[in-house]
Amino acid sequence: MSADQARRDRLVAELQRAAKARQVLPGFLARLCDRELSQPGRSDREALKRAKRALHQVGGAYLAPSMRYDRWLADLADADPGPARLARVAAILGTHTSMGERLGRLGDYYAALFDGVSEPDTILDLACGLNPLGRHLMPVTPRRYLGCDIYLDLLAFVASASELLGHPVETFPHDLLDGPPERSADLVLLLKTLPCLDQLDRSVSRQLLANLDAPTVLVTFPVRSLGGQPKGMRSFYRNRFAEVVDGLDYAITELDLGIELGFRLRRLEPGNRPSAPPT
Ligand SMILES: C[S@@+](CC[C@H](N)C(=O)[O-])C[C@H]1O[C@@H](n2cnc3c(N)ncnc32)[C@H](O)[C@@H]1O
Repeated sequence: MSADQARRDRLVAELQRAAKARQVLPGFLARLCDRELSQPGRSDREALKRAKRALHQVGGAYLAPSMRYDRWLADLADADPGPARLARVAAILGTHTSMGERLGRLGDYYAALFDGVSEPDTILDLACGLNPLGRHLMPVTPRRYLGCDIYLDLLAFVASASELLGHPVETFPHDLLDGPPERSADLVLLLKTLPCLDQLDRSVSRQLLANLDAPTVLVTFPVRSLGGQPKGMRSFYRNRFAEVVDGLDYAITELDLGIELGFRLRRLEPGNRPSAPPT
């Protein structure tokens, strides 16, 4: 084994020892370490610090300090099916910042998000977080619902809790920086995730959208920072999205979601693609 390889393995092992990284897809941690070690003159200590910071920015910042999945599962199982159980679901959803921001208006949010979408057979929810646990409020009833993320414990919880709630979700770990998972679906959800990918690699969002195997994609962006400040984010992400999809084979409609900036993308059939400009 080369010295570089040994150094990298040591750093990954050290990162894995951090409580906030223990449940993260190992390949994703290795990617964070490689990224830091590729910087000339970077000490191991500095690389570790920066890898932890990057993980926090793209994932940890959205989670409550303690995600008590086992206890929550037991709580859900104990609650009477119906309003009591749904009240517990809402409390759990509030522990993930993205879902917390939608609570209280989740039904309206999904109605606006899925407006104009025909009933899908399969939904693929990319970087799903806890979003699949809102299925009971979604105005669609897919036969299959698939979800991926980089947090292994979150994915196991979503699979078990969704089964218990009667809307099963098939979860699997996947790092979107590797491209889209090898799954096809009628509808792909990519909610509030492109900014996370941008933080690590600005070329990935476009590659992902270009290579998704789905006729319809719903994409959203935050319009407030995690601290709640608007900071011109709506126009910033509208411009960024225009840059990402420029020249891709999609017809795009902006959605009126209020609390997020949203877009519905429909794959253009070959006959409907704009013809190349005359040369
Ligand atoms: C802002 S949250 C959005 C969660 C969910 N889509 C929603 O809107 O409720 C971003 C999610 O992306 C996940 N994530 C970040 N980087 C990722 C990557 N490279 N591959 C897969 N998931 C990623 C995080 O773990 C987190 O759950």
